Amino acid sequence: MDKILVHGGKKLSGTVNISGSKNSALPILAATLLTKEECVIHHVPDLSDVHYMLQILDHLGAQVERASGTVTVKAEKVTTDAPYEIVRKMRASVCVLGPLLGREREATVSMPGGCVIGDRPIDLHLKGFEALGAAVRVVGGDVKVLAPQLKGAVIPMTGKFGSTVLGTDNVMMAAVLAEGTTVIDGAAEEPEVVDLANFLNKMGAKVEGAGTRRIIIEGVKELHGAEHEVIPDRIEAGTFMVAAAICGTEVRLRRVQPEHLGSVAQALERAGFRIETTKTTVTVTGNGDPTSLELTTETYPGFPTDMQAQMCALLSRAKGISTVTENIFPQRFMHVSELKRMGANITLENNTAIINGVNALSGAPVMASDLRASAALVLAGLRAEGVTEVNRVYHIDRGYEKIDDKLRQLGANIQRLEGL
Ligand code: EPZ
Repeated sequence: MDKILVHGGKKLSGTVNISGSKNSALPILAATLLTKEECVIHHVPDLSDVHYMLQILDHLGAQVERASGTVTVKAEKVTTDAPYEIVRKMRASVCVLGPLLGREREATVSMPGGCVIGDRPIDLHLKGFEALGAAVRVVGGDVKVLAPQLKGAVIPMTGKFGSTVLGTDNVMMAAVLAEGTTVIDGAAEEPEVVDLANFLNKMGAKVEGAGTRRIIIEGVKELHGAEHEVIPDRIEAGTFMVAAAICGTEVRLRRVQPEHLGSVAQALERAGFRIETTKTTVTVTGNGDPTSLELTTETYPGFPTDMQAQMCALLSRAKGISTVTENIFPQRFMHVSELKRMGANITLENNTAIINGVNALSGAPVMASDLRASAALVLAGLRAEGVTEVNRVYHIDRGYEKIDDKLRQLGANIQRLEGL
């Protein structure tokens, strides 16, 4: 298992390119199952989660080719069974259910298991499929959906914690080949949902309203092949913006869509950092330690839950007391105990972290528990005195393409120790 060693105290500066979006690429790759024809997807990031999705497509019978950031998929014939061995590696595998149900009117996909960031049911996905006329059963750890006929319906997509991203994607992908009109009410508005809808429309689907709370889908008989470029990864971009705030002078991100980063930019500006944008770049100018903040995670366009851990790392060195309230995954605070090992002063009250800024963090051996928590530990290591040893970095490789190379490019003193 690889480790990352971060030698703290170096100033970051320069320019870095942002990769394609993981959370957009995964459902778009699943959507290629909706047609027999060839699909070509560009700007696909080189991540272990993408690798798992390609394994699933291959297992389902699709021809999959990959050449650097371009993936070509041709799913001429497909089987409809995605087993536990593959699905257990990545929750997002659940989003092959919709395309298989849409195309083959049936699918068996292993039920996603537990997740360290909290309870992650898929009840809204399944209720959506039932509303389209599918029979849904959970047997022996598998979700089985079957629908001789799929008929458009009005489907609510908001639960206790707001709308669901992959739920919206999954139902949208089943509904594009259903008879008649489907209305998804309370849909997720995330840019990744819009990117998927744009790809589906290039395949000949009729999806309107993606990016709003109400998506209207006119079912069609069949879809054809298409070519598409995945949007930039706004969470990777946000992570590098926080890296620049934590110990940067001036850092410029290229290949970003600044309009997707509004809430992150506002939070950093409130914390005292200067943010400048152009059509495809964001520049963050460091300004010493941040001002304390009150932050609450929300569904898009609110502050993203996937940036919460990184902000906890930044606010550990803030002047004053900050509060970070997690409304999407209330238990998503695995990074807190590790940040405290580095000297942070954080107390948890229900789904709020109360962060009393300290004058220094110190390097320590720490354990990554999930993707964004591991990024937060690397960021804290950049600011800490001494060496931080981040263990279980396979978590970080799930969602960040070569993060240590990119940080080194900006001047960080960071090493990856392989296979320890
Ligand atoms: C997507 O997960 C992202 N993953 C997550 O990013 C992200 O944290 C999350 O959206 C929220 O923005 C991918 O896109 C692959 P949800 P998803 O369904 O779709 C509850 C990362 O770090 N819920 O929008 O699985 C759920 O428990 C990952 O890249 C139900 O109650 O999340 C949660 O509290 C982590 N019933 C809330 O809704 C359902 O059927 C939002 O979850 C579905 C969800």
